[in-house]
This record gives sequence, structure tokens and C-alpha cells, in this order.
Amino acid sequence: MSNKSAKLEVADKNFDFPVLEGTLGPDVIDIRKLYGQTGRFTYDPGFTSTAACESALTYIDGEEGVLLHRGYPIGQLAEKSSFMEVSYLLLNGELPSKTELDDFTYTISRHTMLHEQLATFYRGFRRDAHPMAVMCGVVGALSAFYHDSTDITDPEQRKIASHRLIAKMPTIAAMAYKYTVGQPFMYPDNNLSYTGNFLKMTFGVPAEQYEVHPAIEKAMDRIFILHADHEQNASTSTVRLAGSSGANPFACIAAGIACLWGPAHGGANEAALNMLREIGTPDQIPHYIERAKDKNDPFRLMGFGHRVYKNYDPRATVMQETVREVFDALKVNDPVFEVALQLEEMALNDPYFIEKKLFPNVDFYSGVILSAIGFPTTMFTVLFALARTVGWVAQWNEMISDPEQKIGRPRQLYTGPTERNYVPMADRK
Ligand code: CMC
Repeated sequence: MSNKSAKLEVADKNFDFPVLEGTLGPDVIDIRKLYGQTGRFTYDPGFTSTAACESALTYIDGEEGVLLHRGYPIGQLAEKSSFMEVSYLLLNGELPSKTELDDFTYTISRHTMLHEQLATFYRGFRRDAHPMAVMCGVVGALSAFYHDSTDITDPEQRKIASHRLIAKMPTIAAMAYKYTVGQPFMYPDNNLSYTGNFLKMTFGVPAEQYEVHPAIEKAMDRIFILHADHEQNASTSTVRLAGSSGANPFACIAAGIACLWGPAHGGANEAALNMLREIGTPDQIPHYIERAKDKNDPFRLMGFGHRVYKNYDPRATVMQETVREVFDALKVNDPVFEVALQLEEMALNDPYFIEKKLFPNVDFYSGVILSAIGFPTTMFTVLFALARTVGWVAQWNEMISDPEQKIGRPRQLYTGPTERNYVPMADRK
């Protein structure tokens, strides 16, 4: 708490509100007593000026293009760390010792299998179901299978539920994919890394040996790191809001998955790749840039712009390097990469995009990489959900442990009819 305060004049009366200081980022005006003292609410659709919680997990400076997890820059983590280590860091606050990391990795690998009856649950979905629809359903259903870890007041149960969610998500995601292509489900192989195991469950078949390609395993692990957490974005806020009522962790993560699915959030990489394929060749780029700038055309450059980053998204830089690595490793020669590079260059030199501070975001290149690895576009958001689960779980744990935690209950500016009497059917015009 600082000594600073903010003054507000309402109906000729002056009020002082405390100003809180974090370790980084703007100060925040503590308006918890605003309604009690002034009888007024604040109006902030989209929460663009509202800090809804205190958090020590992730810091973003959108103007400078900075993203830190527990203080460590995303570029360093993507280059030097692993998804398991970043998961430990997010959950526990510090980088692990070798023993701590080995123990954590071992624990996660021991929770990878799904209750066998869940396979039956999958078979209830239509074969052409979108894998995100399957993910929402199956993750929500976990609470029906793992009753022994749904008491959120017990820290041990919270820990087990967190480990289960992180461990089972690759199995659930791979099964969602296998179901849509009509191949048998693959059981986890705990001799493999977290990411290698996921690749095998997705692309392997029981009839053949599956060799994990080291370059793809590394690229995929890095993609998971880049998506692990991102402060109070829409899906994370959804998880927190759902969790604030005391809902069980599996239900909260299912809510997060539902929110992530939207094209303005996790669905953007699918939309970005579709857009690049529609553009097709570099000579078509100017036409699409003009469309994106036209106020009467709903078309937007997918993978461009961000609510928080008003400078380059630091995750996009790593993603662009990863595309090259994957293309070299797999000897892919996809014209879509050339279209992406040229589109980026043209947009970054266009006054419209410069003025509005629109830069490529993480989704601009991720679709290109995932497609080269062999994932259909419908799986892109599933992979995002898999990786983001660690962030959701860490944020959910932080919220439950916060003594100031309250049920989330936003207010509104009511613009509907004022009170009126019920009109019987016969008297209605
Ligand atoms: N193409 C063309 N114009 C754009 C774009 C775009 N991609 N993004 C924003 N603008 C314009 C927008 O029309 C508006 O113009 P004006 O001020 O003249 O009305 C201005 O820039 C500000 O846009 P906004 O929609 O008010 O900004 P926002 O912060 O509310 O939206 C966004 C952020 C990500 C929803 C938006 O930039 C967008 O729709 N981008 C495309 C979808 C996308 O790539 N989403 C992935 C986000 S990153 C992944 C994640 O973290 O989930």
C-alpha cells in the first residue's frame, strides 16, 4: 500500500481513494468502497481499465512488448527452459532444482491415463464434432470421474486436481483428435517427455512404432511454453470468475476452454491460417490489406492486433523463428510462409497499422507451424487449451489461496424499461 491517493468529485462532494502499487506496471486506484461511499458504479465494458485481482504470476507491458512469468522473460524461457519446468515455475513461483523438476515430471507422468469409462463418453459425440466441443464436454465431465479431488478447501485435493488437469490434457486432446479421424485411441507412454507423449498419442497408431522427431518435439514444447499463461485474458478471467463461486476445478477449466474457443481469442490461429491460405499468393496481399482498412468491410487481418500489446508481441518473435526450424526439419516448402512474411512486412509499413499500433500476435505464425507438423486447423485451439491449462490452474490456485477472494459479481448500467405493470394477453396491442 502506498501513501498516494486519488481524488474524485461526485455530486459536489470530494472522496479520496487509496492508490495501490505493484512491483511493476501502473498503480491502481482502489475503488472497492466507491459504491458504498458515493452510490456510483464505474462503467468499463471489456474491463480495459479494471484490475480484477492481485496476481504474482505473469506481467505484461504491452507498450514495450514485455512478457514475464514469475519475473523471467518469455524469450529466455522459450530458449532455455521446457514446458514442464515453466509449469513448475508458474505453479510454485520459483525455478525448480533438478530433483524438484524430476519429481514434478514424474508426478505428472503418473496422472496421464484417463478413466477407461471416459472412452465410452467420447463415443457419445458425433464423429464430425469439433474437437473443442469434445474438450469442453470431456474436461467438464472429469468432475464426475475424479470426485476425490473436487473439495477446493483442501490444499492437497487442489494440488492433485491441478496435476491431473495438466497431465490428462494431452491425453484428452489426442483422443479428441483420434475420434474425429476414426483411429484407435493411443494410451500414454510415460517413457516419453510430456510433449513427445502427446505427439505419439496424436500421430502414432497401435500397428506401428512411432518415433518422436526431436526437432518437432522441441518446437511443440516451445509452442506450449509460449501459450502457458497470459495474465488476466478472457479465458483466464472466465476460469477465475467460475472458480470464485467455489465451483470445482474441472468445471472451471471447462469454462475457460469454452471462452478460449472464440475467434477473437484462441480461435485466431485457425482464422489466421485460413486467411493466409485464402490470400494464396503474395500478389493478392495489397487487396487484403485494403480490405482490412476498409471500415465498411468486416474483414480484419487475423493474427494482427492485441488488446494489450501495442508493440510487437514477444511470443510472435519466437514463433517466427520456430517456423523456420520446423520447415527445415521437415523439409516443408509451403507458400503460406512466404505469404505470411510478406504480409507482415507490408502491414508493418502501412500507415493504418502503424497508427493503430497493430503488430503480429502469437497466432499469426502458430497456425503455419502447426499445419506443417500435421495438425488440422480444428486442433489449433485445442493445443492452445492444452498449454494454457497450466496458466488457468496456477491462476485458479492463486485465487483460491487469496484471503481477499470474493465471488465475482460485476454490476451494470441498466438501460431497460422502468417498472411497469403486467399487461394481460387480451389487452396487448
Ligand atoms: N485488422 C484490421 N484492423 C484492426 C485489427 C485487425 N486485425 N485489429 C484492430 N483493428 C483496428 C480496429 O478496427 C479499430 O479501428 P478504429 O479505432 O478505427 O475503430 C482499432 O484497430 C482498435 O481495435 P479494437 O478492436 O478496438 O482493439 P481491441 O484491443 O479491442 O481488439 C483484438 C484486439 C485482438 C480483438 C483485435 O485486434 C482483433 O480482432 N484482431 C484479430 C483477431 C486476433 O488476431 N486475435 C488474437 C489475439 S492474440 C491471442 C490471444 O491472446 O488470445
